[in-house]
Amino acid sequence: VDVPDVLFIFFGATGDLARRKLYPALYELWRSGELRGRMAVVGVSRRPFDDEAYREFVRKAVNEYRPFALYGEAASSFLERFFFLSADVGKPEETAKLAARIAEVEERFSLSGNRVFYLSIAPQHFAPIAQSLRTSGLLESRGFRRVVIEKPFGWDLRSARELNAALLGAFDERDIYRIDHYLGKAMVQNIAVLRFANLLFEPLWNRHYIAQVEITATETVGVGDRKGYYEAAGALRDMVQNHILQMVAMVAMEPPGRFEPEAIRDEKVKALRSLRIYRPEEVPLFVVRGQYRSGVTLGEAVPGYREEIGNPSSTTETYVAAVLFLENFRWWGVPFLVRTGKRLARKRTDIVIHFHTLPLTVKALSGIEGEELAPNRLILRVQPDEGIFLTFNVRASRSPFQLVPTAMELSRGEAIGFNTPEAYERLLYDVVVGDPTNFTRWDEVEAAWRWVDPIAEFFAAAGEEGLAFYPAGSEGPEEAQRIARRHGLPFTSLVDERAPVLP
Ligand code: BG6
Repeated sequence: VDVPDVLFIFFGATGDLARRKLYPALYELWRSGELRGRMAVVGVSRRPFDDEAYREFVRKAVNEYRPFALYGEAASSFLERFFFLSADVGKPEETAKLAARIAEVEERFSLSGNRVFYLSIAPQHFAPIAQSLRTSGLLESRGFRRVVIEKPFGWDLRSARELNAALLGAFDERDIYRIDHYLGKAMVQNIAVLRFANLLFEPLWNRHYIAQVEITATETVGVGDRKGYYEAAGALRDMVQNHILQMVAMVAMEPPGRFEPEAIRDEKVKALRSLRIYRPEEVPLFVVRGQYRSGVTLGEAVPGYREEIGNPSSTTETYVAAVLFLENFRWWGVPFLVRTGKRLARKRTDIVIHFHTLPLTVKALSGIEGEELAPNRLILRVQPDEGIFLTFNVRASRSPFQLVPTAMELSRGEAIGFNTPEAYERLLYDVVVGDPTNFTRWDEVEAAWRWVDPIAEFFAAAGEEGLAFYPAGSEGPEEAQRIARRHGLPFTSLVDERAPVLP
């Protein structure tokens, strides 16, 4: 792939995301040679920084991630390409200053006018920025212009539409890259390969062979420093609307006719559109929401959510478990169990495919009574370490008539960090080379909100009623298991170290 040269314009350049993800990711792309000598950055934020202070900020951010990465000579060839503009974005007179900075930097490094505008800021700024970028002529460069958006992409379908309309006033859909960083995770990208490049799996990938799909994305952390955002969003908007539904789509989609971005996204959107939408009054049958109380996570005593955010009557959910159904031929009747939450016992992202059990012939013929035959399961472990496991039954060595479940480990990567810059590294690279496959297309966002909206509506109306409290550090509310059992198998334990790799 030819990697074009590029100018990144980061709005929110001194924010948390930029510090923790974007600068380390850019540094890695630089270090690996992919963007070395081919990029420059104009950072924009309200802080009263100059170029020097900004470079120091970037240096610290990178060193925090990779100690001693940036010092001395090695640092300067990277950092000399960072420039800063202290501005209140979206005001016309400030945009003129931005235009001047951009022109100056592009000329200095003889860049070809390819521009990536990265909006790492609150969504209420998207529309004014898009508008002023358009009127300022900054989108009429010689090269490409792309815009990268961080979530939340709206608060419901209506606001998402408004946001989208504002963006479309300045950019073409094909130039809008909506980030879902789970799509940058290696094992999530592996789902399609595993399914469509292996005879072993694809023929079984349907309701005839699969009893249940289970998707877990749990965390041990609390809300941290994003209190205002989280209190308004809750787990449903923060994790389910995007990351969880994207994983559902990857597991459920039909094989695309071609391995091309739009063909793949067409199939994903079809999967999302086939989700059975619950009416608000049905929600309690399929969805559980919870909130953490104080407790102990990883050996440390932590306060409850309400104390943490300082709102004693908050009804924001920090946990969601739900049973989803896709109303299509492949998945008819197969429950997709999903759960996500903060302050749980483990940080874990897993996709578990539970196959049907076989008739008990082996056991019955050998006269063994008791337990059921364990079903085969395929486990895709996304994090904290990466791996693919397949469980199956073998004869126990000592007792000829006893069966034991065992696991085959198909691959296992190095332990990886959480919410890692690696995902951003892949995604930033994709933006530069113009590959939108692992970004969310507008119609996917729309389909996801259609499913989420009535649930969010029900949550808001129910207030504290039906909110299940769970102690920090636990497996989440018991109610989740109730819902799971009503529709299928219970959720796999988070605490049992062998689960879900072994029953
Ligand atoms: C973000 C959410 O999108 O994903 C956070 O806003 C969450 O609340 C994070 O902590 C989890 O990402 P990861 O990569 O650590 O699983």
